[in-house]
Amino acid sequence: MLGWGGAGLALGAAAAGGTAAALRVGDDASPSASTGDAVPFHGAHQAGISTPVQDRLHFASFDVTTTDRAALIKLLQEWTAAAAAMTAGHEVGAGAISANEELPPDDTGEALGLKPSRLTLTFGVGPGLFEKDGKDRFGLKARRPQALIDLPVFPKDNLDPARSGGDLCVQACADDPQVAVHAIRNLARIAMGRASIRWSQLGFGKTSSTTPDAQTPRNMMGFKDGTRNIAGDDTARLDKHVWVGEKDGPGWMVGGSYLVARRIRMHIETWDRTSLAEQEDVFGRDKSEGAPVGKQREHDEPLLKAMKPDAHVRLAHPDSNNGVTILRRGYSFTDGTDGLGRLDAGLFFIAYQRDVRDGFVPLQTNLARNDALNEYIQHVGSAVFAVPPGVRDKGDWWGKALFA
Ligand code: HEM
Repeated sequence: MLGWGGAGLALGAAAAGGTAAALRVGDDASPSASTGDAVPFHGAHQAGISTPVQDRLHFASFDVTTTDRAALIKLLQEWTAAAAAMTAGHEVGAGAISANEELPPDDTGEALGLKPSRLTLTFGVGPGLFEKDGKDRFGLKARRPQALIDLPVFPKDNLDPARSGGDLCVQACADDPQVAVHAIRNLARIAMGRASIRWSQLGFGKTSSTTPDAQTPRNMMGFKDGTRNIAGDDTARLDKHVWVGEKDGPGWMVGGSYLVARRIRMHIETWDRTSLAEQEDVFGRDKSEGAPVGKQREHDEPLLKAMKPDAHVRLAHPDSNNGVTILRRGYSFTDGTDGLGRLDAGLFFIAYQRDVRDGFVPLQTNLARNDALNEYIQHVGSAVFAVPPGVRDKGDWWGKALFA
């Protein structure tokens, strides 16, 4: 208990100006300037959505265990202070090597000496925060956005409840996996007694790019993924498809977005015994260049009619879905093998959109019914979160407008 009091005090000091926060990199007072490796934490939108995609992911979904609204608010304030510190390359609170040896240190220490690594921490709230088992736990029921729906069950879903849902989420992305894991671990540690991790997912090999000039990454099926994604600097398309607008409401979500996460297992062994021609038919693009059927270059405009009717790209394209467009930001995963010796591998799909009802839901309804890819994949985890706008300044914190 003493340790937690210490952490709280130290975090409070960090929130009040950061003077007590120890530096994680060197002894420079401004690590972001000196390394160029920190992504600004404060802004109109949360970082980690339109930000150029980092190499690694640690995504965590939390159950809120406290029933006390004030305790929940305090947690979010402490989380915000810790997140601002860690994304800037600072240690949490008074740091990993505390002055008082009798207390556990505020920071767990495994990121000491590592760069900020473009760490972003993106926070969201799930349906359960507003209502759980018919109870309005925190007096927030009336503030639930209409767009934060409980996702419908899609054909062929095989969801594991232990890998689905959650009251809160934090998406940690960084170029160094240890920095991402350190961030989630420290947030989980701070949350003790108030929220606990329900499930978490490590990801490597980004499967979507928000920087079209860069080389498009490949997914675990060996295909370039993210070719036709929304670019992170395309403000017109971000405003149209990703950020919640003034008229959309509610007010506390304006500038925010909605996140859908799906753990999609791939039947890798079956895929690996499939001919190249069939693999290319499944996507409607060639494996080498990533060009759409009948075209030469990856970024050539797809000719949908030239693809098989059940090709993934044809079915996912906005022209086949009344213009539906989402921002994809997923990662590959490989979590060892299952009991049958098969790789537990696939795509941890993450999509951001302005309204789930006009984004993931119609798109996935179409794909789940018709996509040739379904023979090789299965959706095994699912969650949806409302991601509030950015933390404006040091007086602001994750979710402040929601609780106002
Ligand atoms: C394991 C599952 C999946 C794999 C391996 C996969 C792979 C791919 C690949 C290789 C492309 C072509 C390159 C590109 O434009 O990015 C693509 C495009 C796309 N995928 Fe997926 N995808 C999967 C699941 C999904 C899901 C669940 C959705 C949405 C519900 C989705 C939505 C899209 C969209 C919107 C496009 C771009 C279509 C276009 O505008 O041409 N994908 N996907």
